[in-house]
Amino acid sequence: METLIPTINRLQEVFLTVGADIIQLPQIVVVGSQSSGKSSVLESLVGRDFLPRGSGIVTRRPLVLQLINVSPLKERLKVENGVKAEEWGTFIHCKICRHPFFFFFYIFGISPEPIYLKIFSPNVLNLTLVDLPGITKVPVGDQPEDIETQVQEMILSFISNPNSLILAVSPANSDLATSDALKLAREVDPDGRRTLLVVSKLDLMDAGTDALEVLLGRVIPVRLGIIGVVNRSQHDINTQKSLEDSMKDEQTFLQRHYPSLASRAGSRYLAKTLSKLLMHHIRDCLPELKTRVTVLSAQYQARLNGYGQPVEDHSATLLQIVTKFASDYCNTIEGTARHIQTTELC
Ligand code: GDP
Ligand code: MG
Ligand code: NA
Repeated sequence: METLIPTINRLQEVFLTVGADIIQLPQIVVVGSQSSGKSSVLESLVGRDFLPRGSGIVTRRPLVLQLINVSPLKERLKVENGVKAEEWGTFIHCKICRHPFFFFFYIFGISPEPIYLKIFSPNVLNLTLVDLPGITKVPVGDQPEDIETQVQEMILSFISNPNSLILAVSPANSDLATSDALKLAREVDPDGRRTLLVVSKLDLMDAGTDALEVLLGRVIPVRLGIIGVVNRSQHDINTQKSLEDSMKDEQTFLQRHYPSLASRAGSRYLAKTLSKLLMHHIRDCLPELKTRVTVLSAQYQARLNGYGQPVEDHSATLLQIVTKFASDYCNTIEGTARHIQTTELC
């Protein structure tokens, strides 16, 4: 995602200037059965471990993660407990949880009401990620009898949004043909225009078996792609293995077991693929954005001309500045379009 951040931030400045919401980045929604590795996949995308994750802790409510890019300027840094934090998170409904990256929470009872978590950081894209409760078959503990229907309806409500990019997570050690994640994704996206399949737990397959056929799309083809990953195991989490080490080991694993596919698998490749999908999306929005800016620029120019010469009036000066801004932004858009054109697209 790194290379995409400055480009999109520049463009998002444009939206602010033209006061339009023309480019809405798709929100990325992870779907899969319980413990399939959804939260782990999201963490590797964000590059931070802060999601409720693991065998005992499960997401019972949708978690809407709003990543918000902030400039790394000093005044934007939040002072927390006397320590300057470059990145921080806020739960919208809970003031007590306002500390950076130390939150941990248990949510009891299933509820479709999302929890909103905002992450402010110079290292993220302005992007919304949604971590959903896992698809469950059998109620456990305090869960209601109709848990399966409840969770399915909740998931469908999120992924039926045409602006959602669906990351269907299916573990390699279970049969892809029965993947609930893919089944749900197909319901709302029958043509597979916005579904990407992530095959997790490649390291947990039975000895003598591998996921090569699945990853090559020979079992079930997935239009946007099938990406195998190895996330941290529960043991890795317990022993506080870093995300960085985990990604290194993932690469080593892929080189050893899937040499022919190693460059098209893994968490980094997943992040790259998502970046490309976002780029495609933005490229599709650019012509409209450019038209808007051009129109706006022409309007300002006309008003500016209306003031006649000489320009003494402060408001006229302001208009000149805005006009200059608009034309600069047109150049930015053109530059971005060129950049996208020359970036290798899948
Ligand atoms: P979620 O319930 O779908 O959000 O799944 P989590 O991300 O919480 O992962 C569930 C459990 O599986 C955790 O203990 C993870 O450490 C473990 N896990 C997730 N992905 C992998 C993987 O690729 N390999 C291994 N060995 N364990 C994984
Ligand atoms: Mg989870
Ligand atoms: Na699944």
